[in-house]
Amino acid sequence: MQNHQKIAVVTGAAGGFGRQIVQHLLAEGFCVAATDVSQNKLDSLQSYVKNSEKLGLFVMDVCSTYSIQQAAEQITSYFGDSIAVLVNNAGIFERTPVLLPEYQDTVAKVIDVNLIGAYSCTTIFSKFMVKKRNGRVINIASIAGTWGAASASAYAASKAGLIAASKSWARELGSFGVCVNAITPGIFQTEMLENEDKHSTVTADKLLLNLIPSGRFGHPSDVAEIVTFLAACKTNYLNGAVVALDGGLNIGTLETSQWS
Ligand SMILES: NC(=O)c1ccc[n+]([C@@H]2O[C@H](COP(=O)([O-])OP(=O)(O)OC[C@H]3O[C@@H](n4cnc5c(N)ncnc54)[C@H](O)[C@@H]3O)[C@@H](O)[C@H]2O)c1
Repeated sequence: MQNHQKIAVVTGAAGGFGRQIVQHLLAEGFCVAATDVSQNKLDSLQSYVKNSEKLGLFVMDVCSTYSIQQAAEQITSYFGDSIAVLVNNAGIFERTPVLLPEYQDTVAKVIDVNLIGAYSCTTIFSKFMVKKRNGRVINIASIAGTWGAASASAYAASKAGLIAASKSWARELGSFGVCVNAITPGIFQTEMLENEDKHSTVTADKLLLNLIPSGRFGHPSDVAEIVTFLAACKTNYLNGAVVALDGGLNIGTLETSQWS
């Protein structure tokens, strides 16, 4: 397929957030290059997302610049080179307790996927945007990147790094018409959370909910809505922003009305 419609590249597209992001971007009219680390993952995406001629599936490991280059070639020969949006969504969460030395390899892996992976994809895909003097890079960070996360400092550091990188790329690419913004999701009901939170109880869930002013956990469609807004909005004056998508969790829960 060759056309001049806007193409959005999504990494980690077969995951909990990715699937929703793909669906929302397709509904907005984008040609979507859905990428993930293996063909198996992409097959699972195909059974989830409604078939669309505007959807292309491409294997791409964000930890390999060779794999990203190859995918970029496949995407441009399939859709053309009007790559207008990159969503750096691929990520892994692993525990890395700082007192335990055996987690060194895990620390490196988390930083490699979550930070260096986004860096490599931005290097390769933003070139298409700079050429057209128009583009949007959207980085899926985390509230852990601003708050830290006990026993998961590598994850928190990778996301803090991604927030700092977003602001830096916004400075570097803004004058070329490319906006770079980050989203920091709070607590979401996804497989990523469930896998790490097997011991969570109803009481723990209730305690957590009490910390969220909006009174509910996030849903992947919340992320997809904001990604689609950042991808489709006409203004190029929203640049270097960090959108806290957490139901107000980050503003704290101190009830000031009780002070009087
Ligand atoms: N789930 C949450 O509660 C939550 C909260 C805050 C931020 N986030 C962030 O949102 C993003 C998506 O999270 P999710 O819940 O959908 O996770 P998920 O595990 O469901 O999906 C992540 C996807 O990334 C892919 N991936 C992993 N390594 C890769 C690699 N080397 N190359 C390409 N793809 C790779 C996986 O195959 C998977 O499809 C992540 O960056 C995560 O850190 C998630």
